[in-house]
Amino acid sequence: MLTLLLVMVLGCDGSDPTTPEIVADPAERLVRAAMSLAGVRPSAAELEEVRAHPESFDRLVAAYIDDPRFGENIRDMHAEQLHLRWDVTGHIPPAGPLSSRTDIEMVTAQDEQPLKLIEWVVTNGRPYSEIVTSDVVFANEITSVIYGLPFDPDGEPWQQTHWPDERPAAGVLADNAIFMRYPSSAANRNRGRGAAVAELVCDVIPERQLPNDIYEPSDTDAVTRDQLCLACHASLDPMSTPYAYARRSIQPAEVRASYAANCEGEMAFGCFPIDIWGPEHVRDEDLPAPAFYGTPVADLGELGQAVAEDPRFASCTVKRFWSWFTQTRIDEVPFEIWSPLTEQFVASGLDARQLALSIATHPDFDNLVTVRPDQYARMVEDLTGYWWSGTPDKVPDCTKGCIGEVDIARNDRYGNHTIMGGADGYFVLASTTDPSPGRHLAQAWLAEEASGFVVDNDMVALDGERRLLTGADPFDTSDAAVMAQLRHLHQRILSEDPATADVGATLALFDRVLARSGDPVVAWKMVVMGLLLDSRAVMY
Ligand code: HEC
Repeated sequence: MLTLLLVMVLGCDGSDPTTPEIVADPAERLVRAAMSLAGVRPSAAELEEVRAHPESFDRLVAAYIDDPRFGENIRDMHAEQLHLRWDVTGHIPPAGPLSSRTDIEMVTAQDEQPLKLIEWVVTNGRPYSEIVTSDVVFANEITSVIYGLPFDPDGEPWQQTHWPDERPAAGVLADNAIFMRYPSSAANRNRGRGAAVAELVCDVIPERQLPNDIYEPSDTDAVTRDQLCLACHASLDPMSTPYAYARRSIQPAEVRASYAANCEGEMAFGCFPIDIWGPEHVRDEDLPAPAFYGTPVADLGELGQAVAEDPRFASCTVKRFWSWFTQTRIDEVPFEIWSPLTEQFVASGLDARQLALSIATHPDFDNLVTVRPDQYARMVEDLTGYWWSGTPDKVPDCTKGCIGEVDIARNDRYGNHTIMGGADGYFVLASTTDPSPGRHLAQAWLAEEASGFVVDNDMVALDGERRLLTGADPFDTSDAAVMAQLRHLHQRILSEDPATADVGATLALFDRVLARSGDPVVAWKMVVMGLLLDSRAVMY
């Protein structure tokens, strides 16, 4: 970053410093791409290679697309943009054959199901439009029981399969997760679901600008006569109609009540497999004919096709990806950026891997961004091997219900994900990258735990088996050994060039803690924690 800043302040060739030509060095660009795509710092070997041979940049970056953590990142992005991780309320609870499952297992299975489809489409370079047209659904051992999806207990944890009912192919639009996340009611008439569809073409219906804000949703008739209501409902209601085949809602209490009543008679509906799709669920009368912005569609399948064929789908996807990677608001992505990227995206057959790669290496992606909570968790785990988890249950046995193991940085059960800037999918719909005391405290907590973990492990590990303190023997406190270790840590955590890294402040910290504690273990913990919280580690 320093080079970048200097160039900005001084200008490159003494020209007007307000319009600098920024030529970021390849190592800095590699950090940005690695963090953007996989959420990890480049390895020492990769940094050395790109410094010595800048032409290796493209090859090194392309490898991050094949990293499984890129897939995780794609799920994180869609979870936030489609509000699909919402561990704050309303999931199918542990019950019946799943009664010994933890809350977290139940929620995670339900939330990840549609995201797994998106990850599969993206990471395999399939046309991105399949996310709204595919007949594939991914199931795991929990969702297969809840929804009666075929599943091989000896196979992979997530398996590609098909819905057991007659629902049309519409990718995530036809996923039960959408029906659960956007429940309907007699008054709602599936409009929350319809509004979620519109977001895929970047039409955020609730945010449409209207001449005034007279808004009276209690008069349900007005939606078909009042000009003001029609401004939104004329397009919203017809695209909501295909969802009439989906059950309006299913509440956790209904599932529990059904099992309490032994799934008999009228109380069979809440027992697994839960029937969610079919003509028997149509309860609303006088629904408008189904259509997508004036083009009639027969059903949810054709709605998905219409979304995929709308030219706004490709440009909106580009804006959503650009927004996620560069931390720009979707509605503020400049035309000069999204227009050529959209052409490229369409020409690639909607290959979203290529799109992500183009963005992560784009010359106009030159703003400093703040690490997101999920990304920080991945980065810290990669550097230290530490995974921030908590198990709040007092009794290990889950037969009477328990929360289970919580992924503290990525899950909203205890709010740390939100405090670190993440969205919770329900109450907090957008992440924030602004600095806040809460974010810093939560990061400091994670950094403290992780540095304690890695230093304790590395100090007892044999040579060659250490994870982070590999620059020198960590018990050797001679100047030469400490300097070598510090240079190595500056390279591994801050991606600096060890030959030129200024380790003065870190050395002072090490010396001070060592003098006070007399213990190199304590001193290394402080150093690692400090580096994990350095602005060059929490921003890139
Ligand atoms: C700015 C766009 C917009 C305008 C204007 C608008 N609506 Fe809506 N309306 C929506 C959206 C979006 C939903 C779906 C909300 C959801 O479920 O997430 C909705 C939902 C509704 C619902 C269902 C509420 C529920 O309990 O689920 C009713 C009823 C309704 N609108 C009536 C009206 C009436 C009457 C007017 C005119 C006075 C009106 N709306 C104007 C966008 C709008």
